[in-house]
Amino acid sequence: MKKIKLGILASGRGSNLQSIIDNIKQNRLSAEIAVVISDQPEAYSLERAQKNNITAVHISARDYKGKREEYDAVLAAELQKHRVELVCLAGFMRIITPTLIKAFPNRILNIHPALLPAFPGLHVQKAAIEHGVKFSGCTVHFVDGGMDTGPIIIQAVVPILDNDTEDNLSERILRLEHRIYSRAIQLYAEGRLKIEGRRVKVLNGKTATDDFLINP
Ligand code: GRF
Repeated sequence: MKKIKLGILASGRGSNLQSIIDNIKQNRLSAEIAVVISDQPEAYSLERAQKNNITAVHISARDYKGKREEYDAVLAAELQKHRVELVCLAGFMRIITPTLIKAFPNRILNIHPALLPAFPGLHVQKAAIEHGVKFSGCTVHFVDGGMDTGPIIIQAVVPILDNDTEDNLSERILRLEHRIYSRAIQLYAEGRLKIEGRRVKVLNGKTATDDFLINP
């Protein structure tokens, strides 16, 4: 199968990036990472990319204070330069503007550590515990103009236990993030995702979520 070219945007440690790298190496994902881009010079994601011989690019956010559209135009140009077909946000701590979305319509995915539409935004594992919900999890979705609002591709569920802390809940959710992100990318690569309004249907076969019910 043809390998889809990915562009990964990451601001931090890049464990989701690492899981994508590992799944590609183990032939579980028919993809290649054309470029990893970070807005943070010290992001460990850039180091992970370099260690794996993947092009790593830092585009400084500092140079574009108050000019988010301009920043995204530079991002889009860099992604296009590397012939990226699918953009994956993996802990990218910036709000994406219409400039980037128009350059990659329905071709940007994000992973979020909660069961959207509950708990969008930041510090969501803490928010889920404090709210007292009994289940949380993670979501891979297409990116639209809103904050964590785009059509949902796949979700995985974890229970929240009485003695959970933000750290151990985050860790439990992260283990599933590493599985569902690659799964969503593979479904996209196989051309099996069909967006109908807010719903994303999986063509020919199992639904995206079959294997990801509660996994403590
Ligand atoms: C993950 O929890 C992801 O869901 C959120 O940011 C975090 C990134 O972690 N969007 P990592 O950099 O991939 O380890």
